[in-house]
Amino acid sequence: KKTLFSGMQATGTLTLGNYLGALKNWVVLEEEYDCFYCVVDLHSITVRQDPAQLRKRARDLLMLYIAAGINPEKNCLYYQSHVSAHAELSWILNCFTYMGELNRMTQFKDKSEKHSDNINAGLFTYPVLMAADILLFQSDVVPVGADQKQHLEITRDIAQRFNGIYGDVFTIPEPYFGKAGARVMSLQEPTKKMSKSDENPNAGILLTDKPDVIIKKFKRAVTDSDNQVIYSEDKPGIRNLMDIYMAITGSSAAEVEKEFENSGYGDFKVAVGESVISVLKPLQDRFDDLSKNKDYIDGIIKTNAEKANYAAGKTLRKVQRKVGFPDRI
Ligand code: TYM
Repeated sequence: KKTLFSGMQATGTLTLGNYLGALKNWVVLEEEYDCFYCVVDLHSITVRQDPAQLRKRARDLLMLYIAAGINPEKNCLYYQSHVSAHAELSWILNCFTYMGELNRMTQFKDKSEKHSDNINAGLFTYPVLMAADILLFQSDVVPVGADQKQHLEITRDIAQRFNGIYGDVFTIPEPYFGKAGARVMSLQEPTKKMSKSDENPNAGILLTDKPDVIIKKFKRAVTDSDNQVIYSEDKPGIRNLMDIYMAITGSSAAEVEKEFENSGYGDFKVAVGESVISVLKPLQDRFDDLSKNKDYIDGIIKTNAEKANYAAGKTLRKVQRKVGFPDRI
């Protein structure tokens, strides 16, 4: 079986973008692959965090993975900080990554503008840690949203460079983007990605939003003035709503155009909202159930950390030998 790896940061409440761009595809792919789903808490501290809040969010995120439908007994769901090989491989790969490459990362530029009071070295080498995450498990495929494309490219470059020097150590991973939903945009500024850190509360649907809030936010979504549900570059607002609807229902753009050919934007927006509720409501209910089941979750965390440590250790030891670290006696 081939291996799949993906992860999310435990910062803020997840949005519909995280769900449609990544989480939803994870569930679809879990049958086909050996899957590792990580809560990337090491990445989270590149931005200052409140310790108690980070701990809670990390646990909530792990429960959310399960609530979204990932089977924690068949797949490995774990915290990055419980597997020290991530940090160790990351250090080694730092020595095989050029400053120039990291300087070109658009996410670093964006984040250092936003957090100009804390442009730390971790923020700069963030993509190297991400490469380590992926390469540690010899991952074949990495399901992510389109915003992670550049990070996947640098991962492949680092892996190829390392393999070029030491032989075939790492599997070269392929990104996986869903057909629709790889780039969910803000409901208020549809040319900008939907993000958990948006200041405008109407810009994003949070996975914790209740049905009435979801409908309200969709009703307020920015569109255009022509009232025709058509998939077009010139209609970023409607196109985004259509993408969301297509990702959830599996319909094609043509089918959605046909379905709403005689309705105005008002009805269409409500239909999109209802489709989102149909997936988020069950997810929220399962999340609430899991929150009450502390022992079960603790068991998952313990068993999976052991599994992840074992798998990661194999690659790490191989890499350590290749670069010339002394054998353990
Ligand atoms: P993060 O935590 O920002 O986002 C988690 C996942 O959600 C996707 N996503 C979106 N997809 C579509 N539309 C959007 N508006 C949207 N917003 C977010 C992201 O593409 C991502 O798949 N660097 C990663 C975390 C990471 C990782 C990894 C991912 C660390 N190591 C190894 C894969 C493999 C990140 O910050 O994701």
